[in-house]
Amino acid sequence: MSLLRKLYKGKDYRRAFSIEELRLVGQRRVPNFTFEYVEGGAETETALHRNLDVFKRYSFKPSTLVNTDGRNQDIRIFGKASPSPLLISPTGLNGLLHHRGDVALAKAAAAAGIPFCLSTVSNASLEDIASEAGGRLWMQLYMMNDRNVGRDIISRAEKAGYEALIFTTDANVFGRREWDLRNYKQPGKLTARNVLDVALHPRWINDVLIPHGIPLFENVVEYLPPEMRTVKGGVVSLPGMLAPDISWEDLQWIRDMWPRKLILKGVLSVEDAQQAASMGCDGIILSNHGGRQLDSCVAPIEVLPEIVQAVGEKLTVLIDSGFRRGSDILKAIALGADGVMLGRPTLYGLAAGGQAGVEHALALLTDEIDRVLGQLGCRSLDELGPHMLVDNQPYINR
Ligand SMILES: Cc1cc2nc3c(=O)[nH]c(=O)nc-3n(C[C@H](O)[C@H](O)[C@H](O)COP(=O)(O)O)c2cc1C
Repeated sequence: MSLLRKLYKGKDYRRAFSIEELRLVGQRRVPNFTFEYVEGGAETETALHRNLDVFKRYSFKPSTLVNTDGRNQDIRIFGKASPSPLLISPTGLNGLLHHRGDVALAKAAAAAGIPFCLSTVSNASLEDIASEAGGRLWMQLYMMNDRNVGRDIISRAEKAGYEALIFTTDANVFGRREWDLRNYKQPGKLTARNVLDVALHPRWINDVLIPHGIPLFENVVEYLPPEMRTVKGGVVSLPGMLAPDISWEDLQWIRDMWPRKLILKGVLSVEDAQQAASMGCDGIILSNHGGRQLDSCVAPIEVLPEIVQAVGEKLTVLIDSGFRRGSDILKAIALGADGVMLGRPTLYGLAAGGQAGVEHALALLTDEIDRVLGQLGCRSLDELGPHMLVDNQPYINR
């Protein structure tokens, strides 16, 4: 790792040949407190590491002597064509990585023809994203203690033409991310070491802090007390904003209000998936929030087959958490996922090179998908299935 870091010192994102290398470029360009906010997981980070390691559990069984010329990786999500099985997951505080980070991510998604999900705690308003970026836009909802905030976001998203609403359910109790806690001596106050580190990143200061000042939580700014409106210490104050008492009744309340596609994010059990289907959801996202919430949580791909078997006919089943390679993505598609969402990979691109860096991240992954698809002897994603995978779990457990 440290050798790789040295090799990538000063390198630009175009020289990153994998998401891991892009991560290293991004790390060098932003201050430590920002990078650790993106990178960190909850507590011992067991779930975070499990998300990354779990892909070793599955190996491919390719077919040979198949003509794979003219491959494509097209999918359809909610009846619309997408040129790749990728989507960008909602992430908050993107403005800390790059000026107007949400806009950069949304524009990169629009350029790639894939859906972009805007977080409730974004640094650009949902209206600005719609007017500046366009493309397929989905809005993520964190339920705040004041339900009027949720009501307002839902009606604004409808007015602005958002295609889908994602209700995130796994942050009812906020994960304890110890790297974040360590970087602040109190809410909004970085430790001296981190202040010095910020000073050592003049390019970041010029991009993110000057001339616009510290990024605001623009979607929800009017609902917050003045001291909580900026991302300054937002990583520490965020937990207090979210409602701990969300329940299936909230889902019903949302379903009654939101007329378009509704997706539940944070589903990891067959029972919850079935409940989502019975309450009129259109899709679910199997996610453990990138290992940032419940530590020691199952990796979503481990429960994918049973959930697809239970609700795959009724719901669009998306998945995120830990996808870093085209091969990871194809394993999930082979196990029945309708699409794969990216959290950190596109954030590494954003940190490394703004919109162009995000485009680079997406290009790396679609290129890998294309190559692996060909090596598997497939011309399209429809040809993948569980029969192309060996589950090594029995051997690992021996
Ligand atoms: C920096 C960061 C901020 C996030 N913010 C949100 C958020 O505001 N809303 C949400 O539903 N999920 C949020 N997530 C979780 C992502 O949507 C996604 O589930 C996760 O990042 C996927 O794992 P990956 O990072 O390994 O791809 C965040 C994740 C990260 C890394």
